[in-house]
Amino acid sequence: MKIKEIFNLAIKMGMEADFRGIEGVKKVLERKKKKYEKLSQKEKELFDLEALENPYLDTRIYNIAEDKEIKKVLTGIQIDGEEIILAKEIGADLVLAHHPMGKGLANLADVMELQCDVLALYGVPINVAEGLMKIRIEEVARTTHPYIHEKPVDLAKILKVNLMNVHTPADNLAAKFLKDLVEEKKPERISDLIDLLLEIPEYKEAAKTGAGPKIFVGDKERRCGKIAVTEITGGTEGSPKIYEKLAISGVGTVLAMHQSEEHRKEAEKAYINVVVAGHAPSDSLGMNLFLDELEKRGIEIIPCAGLIRVSRVKK
Ligand SMILES: [Fe+2]
Repeated sequence: MKIKEIFNLAIKMGMEADFRGIEGVKKVLERKKKKYEKLSQKEKELFDLEALENPYLDTRIYNIAEDKEIKKVLTGIQIDGEEIILAKEIGADLVLAHHPMGKGLANLADVMELQCDVLALYGVPINVAEGLMKIRIEEVARTTHPYIHEKPVDLAKILKVNLMNVHTPADNLAAKFLKDLVEEKKPERISDLIDLLLEIPEYKEAAKTGAGPKIFVGDKERRCGKIAVTEITGGTEGSPKIYEKLAISGVGTVLAMHQSEEHRKEAEKAYINVVVAGHAPSDSLGMNLFLDELEKRGIEIIPCAGLIRVSRVKK
């Protein structure tokens, strides 16, 4: 596979797993196209044309130094300069990061809109979800703005290393995997939910190093009620004011990837249980489901930078 084929596969898989459904994602792209057509010539010159085709702007190809057949991929959750140098050392054909960098990081806020639809899926009225998310999306856009986004990209260009990342498509795969699992197994108590997570190899491995599932609000004995998988995909953390609305909408427990203290306190106030599945294992789960497809196509996968590699490819 060439880099663009790997990228296209990631977008396709991300759309298939997206809680909005493929049609929902296509609608977002159509709206962007209409908005683009209305821009002035000057505005069009600055417009990121990829936004018309790629629904996940936090997922990008940053550097194609050599457009060759990819046989060996160095892949990790948090790729920085060290891993790009490492790729050169070990002769990897491509560095595949999970977390965005460059323009992918600068555009992280763009994917957060999907959280509105995820919240609506769990019964939050769309107007409430959009109202709360608008504030938070603008906040994230301001927070990521001052970063020196291009630093690792510049290094990859100097070293002539192929570099890309897959963020929201992988998080969508993890979210769908977890949603399907809790809906099938219907854990009754928080302890049952934790046990269910620990049956997944990525979480089991993380638990051994202290990074596994953790109860942030509630306790083992509490009943889960309706479990909402609202904090696994959609860029980064949403609005801290959402818990009160989720409680009214009938949600009992939120399954999160990670959670800030501000969000935790708000969830506690709303009597929402929070189970934090863990950052590295949740990101790894999503990446693994994608990486398996590369492995099936004969690509060697070398995990690094926090990736707990588990292959589900039948051998
Ligand atoms: Fe992450």
